[in-house]
Amino acid sequence: MRRLLIDTDTASDDAVALVMALQEPTVSVDAITVVAGNVPLPQAVQNALYTVELCSSGVPVFAGRSAPLMRRLQTAEVVHGKDGMGDIGLPLSGRTSAGNSAVDVIIDTIMGSPGEVTLVTLGPLTNVAIALLREPAIAESVAHCFVMGGAGSGPGNVTPLAEFNFWCDPEAARTVVRSGMPLTHIGWDISVASATFDPDEAAALRTCGPLGEYSVNIQAVLDIYAKEASGIPGFDLPDPIAMAVAIDPSIATTARRHVDVLIGDGADRGKDVIDWHGVADQDPNVDVVTHVPREAFVGMLHRLLAE
Ligand code: BDR
Ligand code: CA
Repeated sequence: MRRLLIDTDTASDDAVALVMALQEPTVSVDAITVVAGNVPLPQAVQNALYTVELCSSGVPVFAGRSAPLMRRLQTAEVVHGKDGMGDIGLPLSGRTSAGNSAVDVIIDTIMGSPGEVTLVTLGPLTNVAIALLREPAIAESVAHCFVMGGAGSGPGNVTPLAEFNFWCDPEAARTVVRSGMPLTHIGWDISVASATFDPDEAAALRTCGPLGEYSVNIQAVLDIYAKEASGIPGFDLPDPIAMAVAIDPSIATTARRHVDVLIGDGADRGKDVIDWHGVADQDPNVDVVTHVPREAFVGMLHRLLAE
């Protein structure tokens, strides 16, 4: 059984990715660590705890950093709702996390089992960057790290060039990308290409049962934002398609490329720079996902939501 450690700024699409990992029989989840991003940290922790409870899982949830390394936190309630979960009235308060030691948990889990733990990151990379700064050896000890972040070969979703997770904490994203960890990059381009859900496709997801209903209902605000701002046919699920690749890497086509992250301001903030044609004379450091067949992702999603 592969062991996963999941770092998340839990909002509506993160929650579906958590459900997938908790439902997948071939993986076990050691812990869920939470970071500020889509919503402030306390709300993200509550959203993760609610989702774990919904799945009848005992996986511990740890709070981590409440702000990016060097920048003011800028959240995304306009995308995911005030509560990050579509503002549909879920009881997202009052649950208790396992502690505030997310960074220690990342270090201890990876260093305690060298080569055995796969890290999956679904939010800004603040927790992981701090873990790397404290214990650089986690870069060699982690089995692999799957990162949902960066715009890939497409446009950004928060600036014309940048994707939210990298933009929110660009210094952290750069720290992780440059760390030497074995990394797979799943950008927002992959989500737009293969993980959007129009009303008919959303209705089909609902037929999976209670977890299908949950997974669609919490996208209520994202669905409107996607159509009106992103110009896509309905909500998209970037974190779930990244989780699908983490669960079964064979569904993805990848290209080994050199990747870096810009840490300026304006258009330079958080842009992933992918050397597609090898013109920069730098060794490739990342497996960049270039394609995931929609059927493979949606098939896995239906299977896991129906279990
Ligand atoms: C990423 O940003 C957040 O809005 C989503 O949860 C996802 O992790 C997509 O850009
Ligand atoms: Ca996320």
